[in-house]
Amino acid sequence: MKKIAILTSGGDAPGMNAAIRAITRVASKKNIEVYGIMDGYSGLVKGHIKRLENSDVSEVLSRGGTILGSSRLPEFIEDEVQQKAVKELQSREIEGLVVIGGDGSYRGALELSHKGICCVGIPGTIDNDINGTDETIGFHTALYNIVDAVNKLRDTSSSHHRCFVIEVMGNNRDSLALYSGIACGSEFIITKNTGYDEDYIVKMMNYYEKEQGKKHAIIIASEKMIDVEKLAERISLETHFSGRSIVLGHIQRGGSPVPQDRILASQMGQYAVELLMDHQSGYCVCKKDNHIVARKIDEALNDVNKIQGKMYQLFDELV
Ligand code: F6P
Repeated sequence: MKKIAILTSGGDAPGMNAAIRAITRVASKKNIEVYGIMDGYSGLVKGHIKRLENSDVSEVLSRGGTILGSSRLPEFIEDEVQQKAVKELQSREIEGLVVIGGDGSYRGALELSHKGICCVGIPGTIDNDINGTDETIGFHTALYNIVDAVNKLRDTSSSHHRCFVIEVMGNNRDSLALYSGIACGSEFIITKNTGYDEDYIVKMMNYYEKEQGKKHAIIIASEKMIDVEKLAERISLETHFSGRSIVLGHIQRGGSPVPQDRILASQMGQYAVELLMDHQSGYCVCKKDNHIVARKIDEALNDVNKIQGKMYQLFDELV
């Protein structure tokens, strides 16, 4: 393997730059030329590819986002579009490709590996929703961002006897809501797994206020589950709390990656280079029981979703 390329795809995630840096540095130590593909699959099919030197990745470790840019390209499921991508790589004699992104990005990598490009995936998404890996790059930073924001909301809600209904990202998956609920001591979490019983929430808010003397409350809802504004209005009308809602939005995805994401990304970047050197195509890098391991992408994609039963039990027992 003499030349490899890297692309970042889907929603950016803090720590992607640490992975790009690790791949570039580890590969160049092994005399492999590294290329950066701009703006994900969309840049690949347009041939927006440039050489990455060690100096291009200095001072990127602490930066959020991705220095390569990212995009979503739904047309990449088409065979013709994939052929264009293969041509762009082959014309530059690039044999190996590291795709950093979520499950949609993995599907693209799998198709390219079927077409003869040696592809490896690295899980880069704040959603922590890739099967086969305990953690994805960016999850811990997004979690930190949420906890930081909720701490501030708690200060103001306790001064004003308020209940905040907070929508967090996660594309309908539960990790960010569940983990932030535990880390912030929220009164409720609403995820696909908990379901949504509005009457019960209102009843419990009255109980917390009257029987437990709570001065404020926090409800954390996964994205795409409920209308947070509507729930806050109902809480204002039917309880003694004044309800307020907030959608934290893209602020969760920005900022300097926390050390955990930088280290995970560096480990995964190093391992991805090793897999490419062994011509292991169609694999994704995972962290399993504190070890960095490889799994076949198709197996990871077809796996059942992680059920975090013990964490839900913990949340329930802490409230
Ligand atoms: O997949 C990461 C993510 O931030 C999800 O949590 C969210 O649903 C989605 O991306 C938002 O996408 P966009 O940045 O395109 O609005």
